[in-house]
Amino acid sequence: MCGIIGYTGSREPREVLMAGLQRLEYRGYDSAGIAVQSSVGADVIRSVGNLAALREAVGLAVGAETDSAAGAVGIAELPSSTGIGHTRWATHGRVTEANAHPHCDDQETIQVVVNGIIENFATLKNELVAGGSAFSSETDAEVVAHMVAAVYDGDLVDAVRTANRRLEGHFAFVAMTANQPGLLVGARHECPLVIGVGEGECFVASAVPAFLDYTRLVVGIEDGEVVAMRPEGIEITGLDGETIDRQPTEVDWDVETAEKGGFESFMLKEIHEQADAIAETVADRTVRADGVDLGDLGSIDDQLLREISRIVIVACGTSYHSGLIARYAIETWARVPVEVELASEYRYRTPVVGKNDLVIGITQSGETRDTLAAMRCARDAGATVLALTNIMGSQAEREADGCLFTRAGLEIGVAATKTFSSQVAALFLLAIRLAELRGSLEEKQLSDLVAAMKHLPHLVDQTVAATEETAMEIGRRYAKAGFFLYIGRHAGLPIALEGALKLKEIAYVPTDAYAAGEMKHGPIALLDEATPVVCVATDSAVLEKIVSNVMEVRARGAVVIAVETEGSTALEGIAEERIAVPATDPIIGALLAVIPLQLLAYSIASELGLNVDQPRNLAKTVTVE
Ligand code: AGP
Repeated sequence: MCGIIGYTGSREPREVLMAGLQRLEYRGYDSAGIAVQSSVGADVIRSVGNLAALREAVGLAVGAETDSAAGAVGIAELPSSTGIGHTRWATHGRVTEANAHPHCDDQETIQVVVNGIIENFATLKNELVAGGSAFSSETDAEVVAHMVAAVYDGDLVDAVRTANRRLEGHFAFVAMTANQPGLLVGARHECPLVIGVGEGECFVASAVPAFLDYTRLVVGIEDGEVVAMRPEGIEITGLDGETIDRQPTEVDWDVETAEKGGFESFMLKEIHEQADAIAETVADRTVRADGVDLGDLGSIDDQLLREISRIVIVACGTSYHSGLIARYAIETWARVPVEVELASEYRYRTPVVGKNDLVIGITQSGETRDTLAAMRCARDAGATVLALTNIMGSQAEREADGCLFTRAGLEIGVAATKTFSSQVAALFLLAIRLAELRGSLEEKQLSDLVAAMKHLPHLVDQTVAATEETAMEIGRRYAKAGFFLYIGRHAGLPIALEGALKLKEIAYVPTDAYAAGEMKHGPIALLDEATPVVCVATDSAVLEKIVSNVMEVRARGAVVIAVETEGSTALEGIAEERIAVPATDPIIGALLAVIPLQLLAYSIASELGLNVDQPRNLAKTVTVE
């Protein structure tokens, strides 16, 4: 849940570290810090708050060094510039400067930055304290510095390997010591760690964009491996110290993809990128007019897809909502029963699952702890597990029997937008493929669905263009409302849930989302003239039912904001605010309705002056329970 960066080379290390942290800030941003080697130890600067606070602290410190010999002179004397940095999302220990990384042992010999959780930290800490170590933070991460220091006898690589063997949990860390200038040593277990190789310099980070400004040559590190990085190159060794030969691969990501590209926020940019994200996800999979090709799904072959008797989807948050929509598509088109489960609940009951079940773990990051645990639980019980993720090389991919990728590109905004619509698109493709393999649809129905999927990116573009102004304007008008109720039915219900989540997470406005037919069983009591009710009322077999539900809302004086299908007159004279999305297949069309709801939430959050990209208390990658 944190971002780590390391650099060794001849550049000004603070600049490289700060630039890297900037690109990792989406992983955590409640405090941050850097440590730069000097001939007398390490200059450590940490601060609470987002990176602006650290930048200020680093700026002041750099200026101050002109007068204070230690930092500047010490660094200048070294053959290379070496440092580590960290941006934190608190798990163990409050958000304080003392808990911010980098951490060190009490002799300040070893500095570390850690991502993830050391699950046996309490046991290790007790041992270390009994042995005389003094801790200065409440974090689990600090034990890593003490553990490495405890076994360090002049060889940091060995010390990291030895300490690493005792660590349990899911983590990645990078260590350095002034005793071996120019050297960084990293290790990982179930958390990402990638190396960037440059000319006479090396980078290490939680994610590639952190060093994309400097190099495109990337080397991945596997669980249990230890990597030593020096300006002249890297050396990877395995659990027993054997050398592993791994050549860098060149990534073709454009740095632009990690920048806002002219929009006022990443979230707005990403809302606009949805057509492209879906086009990428759908493109080569819909080449045939009469069906879908999903490519390599590992051991999940056509035979298995024909024979499975049930699908269970496990996911969290927005990804869970994707699963809920997929249920309508898979059951309607492929006639396979689908259950959709919150991963955090699923993992702790004793689910009945077995070899005839296909379990789909949906996680855009591929690292969500609860989703991974639910996938493992199903796999252990004999089910086949498919991961649906946006991140190649993620834990979800590694642990599944097969992987279906969305191709949404990097999503920086914490609120999922383009990864959500890409997930739904990928799941629609899976549903069509299942229908094709199982013969549950007529040829014409199949080809109509494929054509609709091919056309979807165009409709998404059209929806953004047609609804942005109206949704933004409605948002500004209702920004002061203290509560919003969202309602929907059928495939529109998960969209209502997702719209409500977006408003909660970026605008901090209380919301509830309900199946419209359930209103009279309780939630209708919430309504009065001051309550906006957002209703997903796109074309479907239950549109008439929704109209009745909207009438019930109107009778209580509440204001109705309806998202409907272009040309629909069902809510004419009934809903105060109407936003139209293009017509297509009813289930696919429900997805289009999420766009004005994303924009509505965005507009309200902006109107309230909030940071939409980094909502409070949230992080992009949730690697804790
Ligand atoms: C989405 O807007 C949220 N930030 C959150 O609910 C997210 O969808 C959830 O944490 C699951 O993440 P994942 O897709 O990476 O597993």
